[in-house]
Amino acid sequence: MNDPQSPLSEAIRNPKNIGELADADAIGTVGNSECGEMLRMWIKFKEEKGRRVIDRATFQSFGCETAIAVASLATEMIRGKTAQEALELSSEALSSALGPLPPMKIHCSQLVEGALRSALLPRKTEDPRPSQTTPAAPVSNANLLANFGHDQPKTGGLRIVLLDGESGQNV
Ligand code: FES
Repeated sequence: MNDPQSPLSEAIRNPKNIGELADADAIGTVGNSECGEMLRMWIKFKEEKGRRVIDRATFQSFGCETAIAVASLATEMIRGKTAQEALELSSEALSSALGPLPPMKIHCSQLVEGALRSALLPRKTEDPRPSQTTPAAPVSNANLLANFGHDQPKTGGLRIVLLDGESGQNV
């Protein structure tokens, strides 16, 4: 049982930045086929002192309180950072304010890192012509459930799946 005064308990009680973000510049969605958790993150950029930095980030998630707590912290932490700076944050860094996570909850913070990477990493395109710019991540307001791949194959271990056509990463 969590200490009700702990940072984790507080983040669970009062999560920030929940919900869709209208006019987001990037969206990342990941799912964990083992625990059934899914998380989507919306990111909006702004220009600040000649840099393109994250203005706001929001998220939606099913159920898992630890993933919600880490996503809440992460969406606050990445504000004012460039995409590259945000991508350099590990799952440990994103959840550091919560203190050490129990082993069975480490993948919850990795799910948040996966959503961030899904949103910010350039998409692979079918057309490799060098002059073509990589399109921005697709922006969709589709319901989170609509993209959940319940039929993902289970190959053992935890598997975080980048949805929207990206390949998964084993953790
Ligand atoms: Fe799987 Fe938290 S229990 S993401």
